[in-house]
Amino acid sequence: MALVPQNIKSLQPYKAGGRIEDVMRRYGLTKVVKLASNENPLGPSPKAIEAARATLADAHRYPDAAGFELRTALAQRFKTKLDNVIVGSGSEGIMSCIMRTFLLWNDEIVSAENTFLGFRVLADGSGRKVHWVPMKQHRYDLAAMADHINEYTKIVYIANPDNPTGSYVTVDEFDAFMKRVPDRVLVILDEAYLEFASNRPDYPDSMHYRYDNVITLRTFSKLYGLAGFRVGYALAHDELISNLMKVKLPFEPSSAAQAAGLAALGDTEFMQRTVELTRQGIATLRSGLESMGVTALPSAANFVAIDFGDAARAQKLSEQLLQRGVMVRYLGGWGWPSIFRVSVGLPEENAFFLEQLGELLRNG
Ligand SMILES: Cc1ncc(COP(=O)(O)O)c(C=O)c1O
Repeated sequence: MALVPQNIKSLQPYKAGGRIEDVMRRYGLTKVVKLASNENPLGPSPKAIEAARATLADAHRYPDAAGFELRTALAQRFKTKLDNVIVGSGSEGIMSCIMRTFLLWNDEIVSAENTFLGFRVLADGSGRKVHWVPMKQHRYDLAAMADHINEYTKIVYIANPDNPTGSYVTVDEFDAFMKRVPDRVLVILDEAYLEFASNRPDYPDSMHYRYDNVITLRTFSKLYGLAGFRVGYALAHDELISNLMKVKLPFEPSSAAQAAGLAALGDTEFMQRTVELTRQGIATLRSGLESMGVTALPSAANFVAIDFGDAARAQKLSEQLLQRGVMVRYLGGWGWPSIFRVSVGLPEENAFFLEQLGELLRNG
């Protein structure tokens, strides 16, 4: 159809992680574990559920367009002002708002090739020129990305830690990079997995920096287990935030999502449990894989990527795992054809994955 722009026609849609119910039906299984979408295996924060439930009687009312209570709590948490915080429909909702707010027609975008697919869809869908800079050994090559910044560059996107590789950009790399970024370029620092990486001394938590041209994106989807609610937030200079507030959909996130986020923020015990379970899970997965002669890439997030060095093998194994009731994410569509990614699950889910993969590898 002539009315569909070329960049949309050729856009590769985001492929979501699939549903447990569909896998059960398709393969006639009664047990399926989903380790495909980097979700919180503990489920949602119980306090969040209770708070969301309490909003239901008011579902006929529009949500607070200013997100006042949740933004206030976030501002307190990060020792900043209300004017430095925005909330939206997941961090991807805010990402989309950033693109709509700041990009003029000639502007260009720089990011890493095969980084978070959600950003790739937004960037390619924007119709702007995007410089997808190859990674080096599954890591962002910030020096090469800085080389691609030109007079048209408006947005640079960095996922730190990255999904799907699990790698992260270090303090030194980030500092050196920022020295080469002009003030007129907006750097999106997507810290969806920050809490899993923050124990590393060389991880650059953006809250320890104050750059007027950096916007930090964070989410309630991972640590707080609220992916289904769609609630995320961003922290930045008040002038960036006030302009984003003009462009965002007025009533995102929903009332239930705002209440859930607010309650989850106070659920310290749940957060600690999640972080502990995740770090233990990563160690279990890595050592279990190693004992089978399989090496996982180092990961600072809540998943590990396994490079089999062979596209057919990685794809086949992920399909065979699916047939056995283990949902992992084959990364062919992300530009990593020899890799699949497995998210940390509950200990018994991790064990089930290792057991099934072990059998598949032993059987050839
Ligand atoms: C790097 C990265 N950013 C953002 C998101 C999406 O987060 P949200 O659910 O807040 O939109 C994900 C989800 O997998 C992610 O991996």
